[in-house]
Amino acid sequence: MNRKDLFQDSEKLLHRSMNRKDFLDKVSKIAVVGLGMTLTQPLNNLRVEAAPQFTSYPFTLGVASGDPLSDSVVLWTRLAPEPLNGGGMPNYNVPVQWELAEDEAFRKIVQQGTELATPELGHSVHVEVGDMEANKQYYYRFKAGNEISPVGKTKTLPAPGQPLSKLTFAFASCQQFEHGYYTAYRHMAEEKLDLVFHLGDYIYEYGPNEYISKTGNVRTHNGPEIITLDDYRNRLAQYKSDKDLRAAHAACPWIVTWDDHEVENNYADEIPEKGQSVEEFIQRRINAYQAYYEHMPLRKSSIPQGPDMNLYRRFTYGDLVEFNVLDTRQYRDDQANGDGIKPPNEESMDPNRTLTGADQERWLLEGLGRSQARWNVLAQQVFFNQLNFNTADAPKYNMDAWDGYAANRDRILDFVSENQVGNLVVLTGDVHANWAGDIKKDYNDPDSETLGSEFVGTSITSGGDGAEQRKDTAQFLAENPHIKFFNDYRGYVRCTITPQKWTADYRVVPYVSQPGAAIATRATFEIKHNEPGLKLKVDKPLSNTKKQSAEVEADRIEAQENAHEKQMKKLNKMEIGNR
Ligand SMILES: [Fe+2]
Repeated sequence: MNRKDLFQDSEKLLHRSMNRKDFLDKVSKIAVVGLGMTLTQPLNNLRVEAAPQFTSYPFTLGVASGDPLSDSVVLWTRLAPEPLNGGGMPNYNVPVQWELAEDEAFRKIVQQGTELATPELGHSVHVEVGDMEANKQYYYRFKAGNEISPVGKTKTLPAPGQPLSKLTFAFASCQQFEHGYYTAYRHMAEEKLDLVFHLGDYIYEYGPNEYISKTGNVRTHNGPEIITLDDYRNRLAQYKSDKDLRAAHAACPWIVTWDDHEVENNYADEIPEKGQSVEEFIQRRINAYQAYYEHMPLRKSSIPQGPDMNLYRRFTYGDLVEFNVLDTRQYRDDQANGDGIKPPNEESMDPNRTLTGADQERWLLEGLGRSQARWNVLAQQVFFNQLNFNTADAPKYNMDAWDGYAANRDRILDFVSENQVGNLVVLTGDVHANWAGDIKKDYNDPDSETLGSEFVGTSITSGGDGAEQRKDTAQFLAENPHIKFFNDYRGYVRCTITPQKWTADYRVVPYVSQPGAAIATRATFEIKHNEPGLKLKVDKPLSNTKKQSAEVEADRIEAQENAHEKQMKKLNKMEIGNR
């Protein structure tokens, strides 16, 4: 079956097999509860149990807050006394009380309420608190039965247009649980941050030891490759069983977006990786999206509708910065040229190609066009800058990144150039290494106009212990003069924005295969307002650590291909066994 047929078939299937109305009915009923209306009747014909008996402590997954506005934040928790076993909640509704206070001891409670945790959404709770003061810190906690949750700290955005002197935030991505400890999150929780962005690969879908880090897996996934709703719930719960991750969530509001592994490696819209029918994959995507929503501090506008979920959205931080949070996975064309690191071909260079989908592209350009902010940000998943992995005569690009969708990037950059969208900064995850580079009007002409800069953050754990450089680093930096920096340690990027300058600190840990590593600033870049281009301020290799590993860029892709091979072998064995 060719790609077009596959698309048409999956489209048909979507309209045929999804009973969207049922789901929407259910969702709108749940949303009514969120609006604070009086709860008189159980909405799903299940009883409401105000004095539930839990088999053990129900707040095992911690608390989180997110999607802040100037008068509102989302407060999140999920009742899961047996987090790795479907949650362990009985099949009834449980009222969960919440409190918002000005102080950590909850002496000055400013708001409180009750939200119903229902089995349909895995007993998760997403409270959209309103009437909050702008640019203000709050504390929150939950109570169910006689149990009280840990305390979380959150903060509202400043009012739109309000003059703002400073914003400090961090961004992170890629946290393969088996590849290492979340030491970086423990350090992140201790930073004084207004905000955290997660740019995807919050979980990985693999079975135990299918995806193996070069430095050896140090923890084990709790079950085989995840497919069902319960599988995805258990996997998200296993990741949240890490106390360092929970601490980072409790420390400040998060704005999350996903990449591929929240569902499956390198999926594109409704096209799975390999070895599944589109029908099977769409059901899998429904399961994955629902579990993701259940575990993230997202607004009800992101409640999945069957296989669809709204995740691209915009946050305006006073007059200082506007964040455009993208979803480059849900609406993209299939990877060109069979995916992987390949030469460009007719398909990858097709002028109609899209990574964002037409609606999101229009929304993005419209937002960039009317932005009044001093800094304009794309917070997104995959490598934005052109990155040639071979020679100028015979270029090779990552077909899963923007290079595989060059026309989509060109349309955005043409708009940026023509409309003089200034002070553009792109934040990126995905590639398990630190990079920094300038965005060029013409990547093949180093003297062409610089339209902005991209900071690519390394992984929290994915890839295992790192090194200063990889075997292929020098070649890539020489071949791509707009790329200014590479480093292969784990960590996150901390950004401090003022009206005059953007400062990015690459925070790294020397190892993740053991707990307890110290954090250090490996490099600091600055961008001056209205003076595009990166300026290297600090370049400080870690002492007594590995200068260069034997790894190359293709190893990451190969390790995931090997994982997929293992999955396919298991599948074949099962099929033979069933005959
Ligand atoms: Fe990743």
